[in-house]
Amino acid sequence: MTDTILVEKLDRVVHITLNRPEALNALNLKVMDEVTATLEQYDSDPSVGCFVISGSPKAFAAGADIKEMQSQSYTDMLKANWFAGWDKLTRTRTPILAAVNGYALGGGCELAMMCDVVYAGDRAKFGQPEIKLGVIPGMGGSQRLTKLVGKSKAMDMVLTGRMMDAEEAERSGLAARVFPADELVGEVLKIAAEIAGFGKLATQTAKEAVNQAEEMGISQGVLFERRTFHALFATADQKEGMAAFAEKRDPDFKGE
Ligand code: HXC
Repeated sequence: MTDTILVEKLDRVVHITLNRPEALNALNLKVMDEVTATLEQYDSDPSVGCFVISGSPKAFAAGADIKEMQSQSYTDMLKANWFAGWDKLTRTRTPILAAVNGYALGGGCELAMMCDVVYAGDRAKFGQPEIKLGVIPGMGGSQRLTKLVGKSKAMDMVLTGRMMDAEEAERSGLAARVFPADELVGEVLKIAAEIAGFGKLATQTAKEAVNQAEEMGISQGVLFERRTFHALFATADQKEGMAAFAEKRDPDFKGE
């Protein structure tokens, strides 16, 4: 039972829809708890191969919930370790796709960037407007945006608080692909179904390997990739995938 999100399991895909339309899906602590609990619930489920997180046509999420934060003191934030709960999302091993329509601002942009791939509707608007509230990004935006779009554009976004449209987001590497707004969720669910149709051991390992590129230098990263690539030869899915290719048939992956 969830109050702030809708959860739908569509075959091997779990679709989480942020559902606080009255607040443009502002991310309060309850949203954080419900999203991360849902991810935890399904992450190790072998029948789930991909997650999709989306919002509404108007807003993916217009930020952290300003009204919930406004009266907090420094010590309140520190004691609660405010937003550290989102780290659970980044520990999810199953791929997570963000389908961004409308506003993805502040924590909303940061939530999208915590996902493994960002797909944007053609009217999406991304931004880190925290500077206008007297604060700075607090859910990883200063780090992830900089890695995705480079220092100059990240500084431009974080220091001015301006919004970036979908075309600029795709051009600068924040969004992987752009779809017409009203087709976005359907298209992303199709991509998720495709990913979920592959062997889960391989998709999880691919996610780990790509994520290591953020953390490691090139030689260590390539070694990590090579060893995990070697390890997949211990799986039945590798035997099945390669046999299916040689036998000119579709593979039947079991996640083993
Ligand atoms: C709480 C929010 C909200 C938010 C919108 N609402 N964003 N409530 N937190 N982040 C509420 C509004 O108060 C309003 O409630 C309702 O949603 C509709 O919003 P409007 O402003 O009336 O809509 P509109 O005029 O269309 O403007 C859309 C908007 C604007 C441009 C997206 O809402 C906006 O600028 N929102 C704030 C964006 C922002 O600053 N985000 C960063 C947050 S800080 P009522 O009750 O009046 O109808 C952040 C920091 C992360 O994310 C980490 C820091 C620690």
